[in-house]
Amino acid sequence: MKIGIDKMAFATTDEYIDLRELARKRGDEPDKYTIGIGQDRQAVVPASQDIVTLGASAAEKLLTDDDKKHLSTIIVATESGIDNSKASAIYVKHLLGLDDFVRTVELKEACYSATAGIQFAKGLVTMDPQSAVLVIASDIARYGLETSGEVTQGAGAVAMLITANPHVLALEDTTVSYTKDLMDFWRPLYATEAHVDGKYSTNVYIEFFLQCWQRYRQLTGRQLADFAALAFHLPFTKMGKKALEGLLQDDHSLIAEKMREQLTASQKYCREVGNLYTGSLYLGLMSLLQNGQVKAGDRIGLFSYGSGAEGEFYSGILQAGFEKYLSNVKAELADRHQVSIEEYERQFNSQLGMNSDDIKLDWEKDPAPFVLKGQKNYKRF
Ligand code: CAA
Repeated sequence: MKIGIDKMAFATTDEYIDLRELARKRGDEPDKYTIGIGQDRQAVVPASQDIVTLGASAAEKLLTDDDKKHLSTIIVATESGIDNSKASAIYVKHLLGLDDFVRTVELKEACYSATAGIQFAKGLVTMDPQSAVLVIASDIARYGLETSGEVTQGAGAVAMLITANPHVLALEDTTVSYTKDLMDFWRPLYATEAHVDGKYSTNVYIEFFLQCWQRYRQLTGRQLADFAALAFHLPFTKMGKKALEGLLQDDHSLIAEKMREQLTASQKYCREVGNLYTGSLYLGLMSLLQNGQVKAGDRIGLFSYGSGAEGEFYSGILQAGFEKYLSNVKAELADRHQVSIEEYERQFNSQLGMNSDDIKLDWEKDPAPFVLKGQKNYKRF
């Protein structure tokens, strides 16, 4: 029985900054941001958006009434959750008006956990092939103003429906997970911004990718030529390039050049939005499917990475007609509007803090289908 990703949809905020403007404001060369890091624009997050509103907006785009009838479970993968106890999936379930007889849970392991969510969903669908599982990867990546991580911030959500006989990607059985206890990036419970050992994190990412890839090759006997493309977790687009070049070294064969071209196609959307943490790999996959040279029957390799750290390499086969089961990301990105760096800084500093209460947010201007209106008695509404 084929099980995999049946549909995918993406949502981000309505506003962005141009990273050339940010570079000038920070006294950096614009080329450092656009070429050295590989980012052009970054989503700006108004206080009226959080991972629940973003996740619900993405999920709303893909669920039909028929899907809703078959939904057994909602898994929200995030590392920027809004509650240490209550799962954000419960809020999403409520906002989407879903049946009460549905299981809801939140998963955490930095940027990796949506991949765990997909594997768990596959298990659930194996047990009940009529059922569907909604996996939502939703995050807001914050490092802080004037930090070296600032250029790698971003925000958005990717929602995916996992079913039998999927329309987008049928998952193959071999997956390789690789985990080590280390501190490349972390965010203690009291912190609203991430701590990161930036250079170290990029080296760990590459090491984990190569470990997973070698093991996958040993287990399956597959070579690079068996893949149409590789999709990577993209905290910034240069990271995918570093990992792929770590594998290709100085190879300039036809296969190697094809992989480089496909990587460029997979980086297109990330360049415009920034890091989605849990959703980055899956926005990269959507970007590849909408901009790359891929067709039904192609094998796609996926590398998922979460700091702390955990990596997973797995693969899937593209299904006929996959194009019709992806939301229109190009239109969504074109529909946003640019704000100044001053406005971005104002919004960055106006988020609900750890201890803020009795706050009504200025949400009327936010055109998103779901908005956070404020907080009273430490309850969000
Ligand atoms: N023109 C072109 N390129 C330029 C340039 C110019 N004028 N000036 C600098 N560059 C290049 C540099 O040569 C460098 O390239 P390489 O990496 O290929 O050597 C690149 O721009 C970046 O320059 P720096 O190394 O000086 O950048 P930095 O010290 O400001 O930090 C960073 C970069 C480490 C990525 C930092 O932004 C950061 O810490 N980001 C957050 C951490 C992160 O995303 N880690 C990724 C792995 S962890 C993960 O994947 C999980 C997750 O999502 C967080």
